Formats: sequence, structure tokens, C-alpha cells
Amino acid sequence: MTDKKTGAGLRGIEAGSTAICTCGHRGRGLDYRGYGIEELAANSNFAEVAYLLLKGELPSAAQLSSFNARLHSFRRLPPAVCAALENIPASAHPMDVMRTACSVLGTVEPETENLSARADSEGALAERLLAFFPCALGYWHRFVTSGERADVQGAGDESIAAQLLRLITGKTPPPQHIRAMDVSLILYAEHEFNASTFTARVVAATLSDMHSAVAAAIGALRGPLHGGANEAAMALIEKFDSPDAARKGVDEMLHKKEKIMGFGHAVYTVSDPRSDVIKAKARELSAGHSRARLFPVSEAVEELMRERKKLFPNLDFYSAAAYHFMGVPTSLFTPLFVVSRMSGWGAHIIEQRADNKLIRPGARYTGPSTRPFVAVAERG
Ligand code: COA
Repeated sequence: MTDKKTGAGLRGIEAGSTAICTCGHRGRGLDYRGYGIEELAANSNFAEVAYLLLKGELPSAAQLSSFNARLHSFRRLPPAVCAALENIPASAHPMDVMRTACSVLGTVEPETENLSARADSEGALAERLLAFFPCALGYWHRFVTSGERADVQGAGDESIAAQLLRLITGKTPPPQHIRAMDVSLILYAEHEFNASTFTARVVAATLSDMHSAVAAAIGALRGPLHGGANEAAMALIEKFDSPDAARKGVDEMLHKKEKIMGFGHAVYTVSDPRSDVIKAKARELSAGHSRARLFPVSEAVEELMRERKKLFPNLDFYSAAAYHFMGVPTSLFTPLFVVSRMSGWGAHIIEQRADNKLIRPGARYTGPSTRPFVAVAERG
């Protein structure tokens, strides 16, 4: 029986309604509030996309400028968050840092208990979290790598993409890297009822606070079958010195029935529309890079996966090479996904609350039928 029939992994089951995103229609399409991802990636920036997801419409020039000003004003870390970040060991996984930072923020700036006041404040809280995560990630990274207490705020016109690259690399990033990072944030921003977003909705549906919903979503995103796939893809391509070695190595892995991270998708059946966009960026960024070979190596893996498994790369696969060429350490790949997906999570939490129903599915029972209790002394 197929997963669709058994309900395994809730495949093919509509678990609710949403006006935010369509994903996988015609086996490949992705639209945010009706706008195709290719057009958004080519013509907009991450702030416009985050506004679109959170508010439902693209912003006018004036709306965008005040949204950017608000996001900039939210770029601050309370002393308790800085202290907590400074106490997290350098060996911690940055996804655990993101989850912890979110929880600590929730203790210093808790969401109001007054549910009726939430409707006005939850949009602002989503914006606060959108601005908060790049600051938390950058502050911790600079502190553990160079002992520096970084200026997270930056110039008034600095985009989130530029802020991230400045804090991650410790240098002023080139415009080509800023645009590539911005495009990657657009591509990662939203993806309907994926595992982390669904997690956020389940938590929000209990009428819990937004920090709890987002911390839970970060936990779901961390796994290699979801957000963690981009880090696993990097570990894979780094192993190979040439396209030939990549073909041979991946072929052997497939013979051993190993999964190749960054390939396949639970919803898309034809291709992942985000992959072509990030692949073009990875190709562009590889030019002149000392490890440019990672691009042809990635292409060799793509070719082999198509031949052997008829599987296509998802967004995570070429994101690995693209991030590497921008100077991002591998362990920070999935946290960048958090920064971007906060826009989608925020939109879904707000949508869930607007027409809430506790999410509580049933289960097909496969255990023993009803039987009498046996006292401990009488058990064999
Ligand atoms: N590498 C090798 N084989 C793969 C594969 C991959 N990346 N993805 C799927 N397959 C194979 C499975 O082994 C399985 O083969 P089988 O029927 O012979 O056992 C078949 O394809 C179906 O796989 P399954 O995991 O059940 O499909 P799914 O629709 O539930 O999977 C994913 C979707 C994303 C979980 C899956 O493709 C995967 O694990 N990919 C790697 C992780 C990844 O990139 N995640 C990020 C998603 S954006």
C-alpha cells in the first residue's frame, strides 16, 4: 500500500487550510500568496517577501521603507540573551544556539498573556523574531570564533543578508554575495505545511506563545530529513576531488542503499523549482573560487542521481555549494534557514490563531486487544 493510502507521514492528506503558499502543484510549482517563486527570486528582495508572507500583499515603497525601519529598530539583543549566548560552548550546534536564544528571548520579552491583545502585537512579535535571529546567530558566532562582542545593529540601510554575511565572515561582504544570500533567504522563506511549519501550527493551536511555537519549529527543522539536509549535502560534496570521484562515490553509496541528502522531496514529483535558482547562484559564485571544483562535483552528483534513481536536487543540495562560496561555515547553513523561515512560521502562526482549532489527529491502533490486568507478583 502506498503512503497516500496508509496515511504514513500524513502524505497526501490535507491537514488544514492556508492562504499563504501553494507547493507542488503540477509536481513542481511554488507560489507565495499567488506569486511564483522564480519571479520573486528574480525581482524582489527578502524584506518584500517577508512582508508579503506576514501581511498578505506586496508592500508599497512607503510600506517597505517603514517595514525595513521597524526591522532595523528590532535589531537588539537584551543583556540576558547576550549573557546566555556567551555561556553556550563553542562546540554547541548552532541550531541548538538558535533554539536556546529563542527560548531565552521568550523569558525576557514574553508574549502577552492577554489573548485579545495578541492580534495587534503578534505581527510585531513576528517582526521582532525576524530581526532577532540574525543578531543572535551573528553575536554567538563572533563571540566564540574571535571573542568579539559584535555590533549586531549595523548601518540603517543594511539588509538582513548583508548583516548576516558581515557577522558570519567578519568582513564587509561583496554585493554579489549579498544578492546571492538575499535570494537564498527568499527561496527558504516559506513552504506550506512542511514539518517545522506544521510543528509551529500544532503548538500555536494549543494557544501557546509564539516563542514556544518557533522554538519547537527550530527543533523540527534541525533534523537531516528537513533543514539539516544542506549540511549533509556539504559533507558529501566535500569528500570528492573530482566529478569522476563523485560519480563513483555516490554510486557506491546507492549500492549500499544510503540516502543522498539534498535529493528527493515529499511533495514535488518533477523537480524543486528553487533548485534551478540556487544552482545558477552557486555556478556564478564558483567563478574564481579556490574550491570551484565543488560546483562540477555537485553537477556530477546531480547527473548520477537522475540516471540511477530518477531523483532531482532539492533546494538544500546546491545551497551547500552556494553558502560555501560565500564563506559561510557548514554548521551555520541550517541556522540561515531559521532566519529565513521565520517569515513563513510567523505567517502560519498568525493564520492558525485567526481561525484556531486544536490539532489532534486520530491514530490507527496496532497494539494488543483489551485484556485483563495482571498483578506484578503473578507476571511470569
Ligand atoms: N537518496 C536516495 N534514495 C532516496 C532519496 C535520496 N535522497 N530520497 C528518496 N529515496 C528513495 C528511498 O530510499 C525510497 O526507495 P525505496 O522505495 O526503494 O525504499 C524511495 O526513494 C522513497 O523514499 P521516501 O523517503 O519514502 O520518500 P519521501 O517522499 O517520504 O521522502 C524525503 C522525501 C525528502 C524525506 C526523501 O527524499 C529524503 O530523505 N531526502 C533526503 C533528505 C533531504 O534532502 N531532505 C530535504 C528535503 S527539502
